[in-house]
Amino acid sequence: MNKRHAATLTACAIAFASAGAAAAGPEDAMNAAGCMACHTKDKKLVGPAFKDIAAKYKGQDVVAKLMDKARKGGSGVWGPVPMAPNPPNKISDADLKAAIEYILKS
Ligand code: HEC
Repeated sequence: MNKRHAATLTACAIAFASAGAAAAGPEDAMNAAGCMACHTKDKKLVGPAFKDIAAKYKGQDVVAKLMDKARKGGSGVWGPVPMAPNPPNKISDADLKAAIEYILKS
């Protein structure tokens, strides 16, 4: 393999890797935003398990309400422990919406 070919392959690999990151799903967005430090899919940690959140709000249209809650943080729904605010520099509106929709389907 000559040098130019190797460089082209490297450029492709980098482009491919960053395209993969941009197309990441809600689980990756939540990992990146730090949600998973307090939440898991099926066990209560600091915050409620996603499956418990899904069960609590089953059949209700709560995406906007829970987006707002996750943005601003707060306590009192599940107990006295507060959720910290999650500002847009941690998770974008689009990723947060996808995350809440994902949680509600858990
Ligand atoms: C510092 C720990 C912590 C982090 C980080 C965190 N949460 Fe929470 N989360 C909590 C706690 C504690 C509660 C329960 C709050 C309550 O009782 O009102 C909660 C509740 C929730 C709820 C249910 C809210 C309700 O009113 O029923 C959703 C949805 C949620 N979190 C999503 C997220 C998402 C998405 C992220 C990341 C962007 C995130 N959380 C990051 C601790 C955290």
